[in-house]
Amino acid sequence: MNQAAHAKAPLASGAREAMEALNVEAAHLNIWLRTQANAPAQRPWFKETGLGTAGAMAAGRVAAAQMKAKAHHWKWREISPYLDKIAGIASSADVPPIEFADRQQFLLTNPGLGGRLQIAAALRCAVSIYNPGDVAPAHLHSPNASRTILSEHGGYTNVEGERCPAARGDVILTPNGTWHDHGNDGAAPVTWIDTLDWPVLEFLDLIWLDEDMPGATGNHRMQAASVPEGYSQALYSRGGLIPTFVRHARGISHSTSPYIHYRGADVRAALDGLRGEAGDPYEGVPLAMVNPANGGPLFPTIGYGAQMIRAGEETLHKRETASTVFVVMQGRGQTEVAGETFDWQENDIFVVPNFLWRRHLNTSSKDAVLYTMSDAPLVERIGQYRAQGRTKAGEVVQLA
Ligand SMILES: [Fe+2]
Repeated sequence: MNQAAHAKAPLASGAREAMEALNVEAAHLNIWLRTQANAPAQRPWFKETGLGTAGAMAAGRVAAAQMKAKAHHWKWREISPYLDKIAGIASSADVPPIEFADRQQFLLTNPGLGGRLQIAAALRCAVSIYNPGDVAPAHLHSPNASRTILSEHGGYTNVEGERCPAARGDVILTPNGTWHDHGNDGAAPVTWIDTLDWPVLEFLDLIWLDEDMPGATGNHRMQAASVPEGYSQALYSRGGLIPTFVRHARGISHSTSPYIHYRGADVRAALDGLRGEAGDPYEGVPLAMVNPANGGPLFPTIGYGAQMIRAGEETLHKRETASTVFVVMQGRGQTEVAGETFDWQENDIFVVPNFLWRRHLNTSSKDAVLYTMSDAPLVERIGQYRAQGRTKAGEVVQLA
């Protein structure tokens, strides 16, 4: 049954015209006399289970508050030349972009969100490039952020005095309220993906930023290292054992992971060690990156994971009320989303918004690894997380 079947019988035109006239008259009072029914942009979760169901946007006054992200695929071979162009401008310009824009990056703008600087309803994603010698000065802010490292090596983030050297596949966290600075002290440009819960905080008008770190010195206001490299690994490196003499939080944050540097090499070793397991019919071999102090997600707003789609593996369809951004860390394959097929390869990024069915296929002879960033923790915290799968026979089953 579609939404049109539920549409209310139109008001007599005279009544509607009278209401609209009153709306013009009353606009200065900041009220709106309802002349249109609510029009949910999503279809009923339990009833509408067809593979293509995406819901529909309203029209008129009700639509003003609606937006709907689209599934989209950013191909590395198409977008990465713009990183090179940014780097070229930065190295030849009198004032490099990092000076006037704070960053050298492009943001991934979801084509369904009207130019907003967000990849999904709750997530912002950017791809950044740092030339040798570049520094982003120490600062802190209310959004949670992370870097997913694409370059093989080079570059660093210093988080509250812990210097995290960046290598491909690493995920480095800057929990909200932590002082952090980034830079590249290597010999080649460094590239990474920034992921933030910025849109959530922007929606709540909670964005704030401090760029005046006490004690930060030098032209670039860099913070000094105050603990050895690998400090958070040293504290939390034994699974199931955590130190009880430290506060399990960084900066002023709550419920964010005190383990701030997830190593790509560790992720890969863990996946390799599990590739012989049955895994998950919807996800291949999935791993969640967790806060070692409480087993929860890295941020209350964003969950991070990595999954291996093994050579020849085809997952079953799944959908969630959460949205997920995928980064192709290794290999190639396809993801089918609501009637589209994304043919992905290394460094590609794609987004699967909530409610859309998707499945992954690896028709190659080599394993593929996808990293994921999802707003599922936030959706769970407000009591809205649901997930469904489809069996091989096409039967819809409730997963959560
Ligand atoms: Fe930052």
